[in-house]
Amino acid sequence: MKKLFAALSAASAIGLASAGPALADHTVKVGIIAPFSGPFAIWGKQFQEAIEVYVAQNGESAGGHRIEFVYKDSGGPNPSGTKALAQELVISDGVDYLGGFVFTPNALAVAPLIDEAQIPTVIFNAATSIIVEKSDYFVRTSFSLWQVSVPMAEWAYAQGIRTAAISVTDYGPGNDAEIAFKTAFEALGGTVVDTIKMPLATTDFAPFMQRIKDQSPDAVFGFLPAGPPSFAYIKAYNENGLREAGIEFLGTGEMDETTLEAIGDAAIGITTAYHYSGAHPSEMNQAFTDKIDEMFPGSVTNLASVGAYDGAHILYQMIGAVGSERTEAVDVVRGLAWESPRGPVSIDPVTRHITQNVYIRRVARDENGRLVNEEFDVIEAVPDLGLVEN
Ligand code: PHB
Repeated sequence: MKKLFAALSAASAIGLASAGPALADHTVKVGIIAPFSGPFAIWGKQFQEAIEVYVAQNGESAGGHRIEFVYKDSGGPNPSGTKALAQELVISDGVDYLGGFVFTPNALAVAPLIDEAQIPTVIFNAATSIIVEKSDYFVRTSFSLWQVSVPMAEWAYAQGIRTAAISVTDYGPGNDAEIAFKTAFEALGGTVVDTIKMPLATTDFAPFMQRIKDQSPDAVFGFLPAGPPSFAYIKAYNENGLREAGIEFLGTGEMDETTLEAIGDAAIGITTAYHYSGAHPSEMNQAFTDKIDEMFPGSVTNLASVGAYDGAHILYQMIGAVGSERTEAVDVVRGLAWESPRGPVSIDPVTRHITQNVYIRRVARDENGRLVNEEFDVIEAVPDLGLVEN
């Protein structure tokens, strides 16, 4: 870390030596770390497209500071590689802010570094509650598993579901999803009949499905990272006859808009609790989805898009107010409220996590025959219940 400091002071000395031009000439760099290759490459693509839409709608500068985004490819879950990329961005590229981060272990890995180098860092996805407690420089614009899993459990119980199996990927967000669902469901009187922890690298879900089916619960609640794992899981749920057996699927991000068409008719009727639907009925979301479609024909908006779009908003607020004098930047957005394509949101002044509506949605075909997550119920202004309750 000493080395990092030396490099940072050298970099700021150079910065000072060349200072002098009008404020508008000063460029503030933001490093975005996300998967741009491998099985999770769709995340980086969705992040970048949403940022480019935000820039197209809001201009390339804020408060007289030109903003430049520098993208780095982390691949999938890769904490040591992510830490190295963050170091490179801060030292070699001279970024003042960071953003991105799909996977919890990757976000956790940069906490000591952003603390030491005082780099405000906006998390566009990584969703384990504890992350934001690991550095005061974190602000999160995505969601947390606690935030969406408790409403899912409460809705399920209200529908008459009394027994559930839980199957989650065995790492941070899966553990949060499990405990959140179980706590809320059991508090109401529901029974969790089984809990299955699935390895992050698993692609064969048939044995888990068989185990769940044999116990015939009313429902199965699951969490897997959005993308190939959750897609394969849903496929296995259908192919192993759980749906036919009347075991209802309860989830959060599994009906991600980028995979819905590939799931096809098997998705229709599946209910999830989540903070963003590409079909959220608002003018602002319509403008967002129209602009994505105009700039990137064929692309759709999903959880990654809205996390990055609102992340860009936060970065613009901070940079607009303080530019590269970033040490107090996070204070600029504490308590900030704005309208997002997902609905009304704010940054909790204490936890620095986004407070937002959670929608209960069901997959259906819209008037154009496209599969969409149709919102039919809303729980308003939900904070990160994991930070509130623990
Ligand atoms: C996470 O690692 O925190 C994570 C990854 C993918 C998701 C949600 C959470 O879809």
